[in-house]
Amino acid sequence: MKLKSVGIIGIGYYVPEKIMTNADFEKIVDTSDEWIKTMTGIEERHYIAEDKATSDLCTEAAKKALENANLKIDDINLIIVSTVTPDYLAQSASCIVQKKLGVKEIPAFDISAGCSGLVYSLTVAKGLIQSGTYDKILVIGGEVLSKVTNMQDRGTCVLFGDGAAAMVVSEVEEGYGILSSYIGAEGEDDHILSIPAGGSKKPNTVETINNRENFVQMNGPEVFKFAVQAFPRATKKAVELAGLKIADINLLIPHQANIRIIESAMKRLRIPSEKVFINIQKYGNTSSASTGIAMGEALADGKIKKGDVVVLTAFGSGLTYGSVVLKWAY
Ligand code: UT7
Repeated sequence: MKLKSVGIIGIGYYVPEKIMTNADFEKIVDTSDEWIKTMTGIEERHYIAEDKATSDLCTEAAKKALENANLKIDDINLIIVSTVTPDYLAQSASCIVQKKLGVKEIPAFDISAGCSGLVYSLTVAKGLIQSGTYDKILVIGGEVLSKVTNMQDRGTCVLFGDGAAAMVVSEVEEGYGILSSYIGAEGEDDHILSIPAGGSKKPNTVETINNRENFVQMNGPEVFKFAVQAFPRATKKAVELAGLKIADINLLIPHQANIRIIESAMKRLRIPSEKVFINIQKYGNTSSASTGIAMGEALADGKIKKGDVVVLTAFGSGLTYGSVVLKWAY
């Protein structure tokens, strides 16, 4: 049986208004604009308003994606939100997004796969459409990392930002859309990258709050080591599965975690910088929103046209990694 071609038919992204510059962090922790720019590539990031949450960012991004696809929310059969920062622990962000988009009954669930969440979600959406289970799926990656950031830890606080990106996934013209997907995980329980307290293992207590275990903790160098291996490996695998070569890539959209990780991947993959989209300087690391925001910007900048081979590659907590190869469908 011939499988349907499935791809993205609309995209939208949204970042909150408030900007935190490197100079702002110089006033909070012992850091410098120079260190942050050189070591990460980040110049500023966006922070959400106190009274808003991940579902608000996701809803705004979803409205833009629907508009971009020329569809209404009633055309959608399933909502998937990828996030590590849902509004609540025991209610999915996707259900809240469903309500905020003004619809009932449409099934909705969250995916937790760290910064690789959008790549995982696209993979799941593709399978569900190819199996005939659903027709049009809203895939959203959204994060409010500013509210889980330890503002006393200079090693992590300068890295993260808030934002969301949404995509409408649907059957597309034959031969276009998602050509391949490769996802993987290396589970670990060592807190290389996690929020140690607030889950079932260690519910929050006065002690965990005092120890600031309710915020992101990361062993930066360990994650760095993992990323510089996993990134090129996942990209190569996905490109191979698509029957293509690295040279066939028109645009590589990497997870925007650290400019040095991206540059290392460019070197290992032997891909020139003009084929790699970078916007880390404006948004920092927005976890599962990162590749989606970058893809939305690249499209708006006219850097993607129909037929282009576009590759999204991400890695993150879990640890997880993955890469999706698309032949752009519109
Ligand atoms: O999205 C998923 C995953 N996250 C990532 O991909 C992050 C991966 N890791 C990284 O990007 C890097 O590890 C960091 C940018 C977080 C850190 O860079 P690094 O080269 O691994 O530095 P380090 O942690 O080994 O620290 C080197 C020095 C230390 O000082 P000492 O001990 O040598 O005196 C740190 O305390 O840099 C210091 N440092 C800072 N200095 C100024 C760490 N953060 C800062 C800071 N400002 N913000």
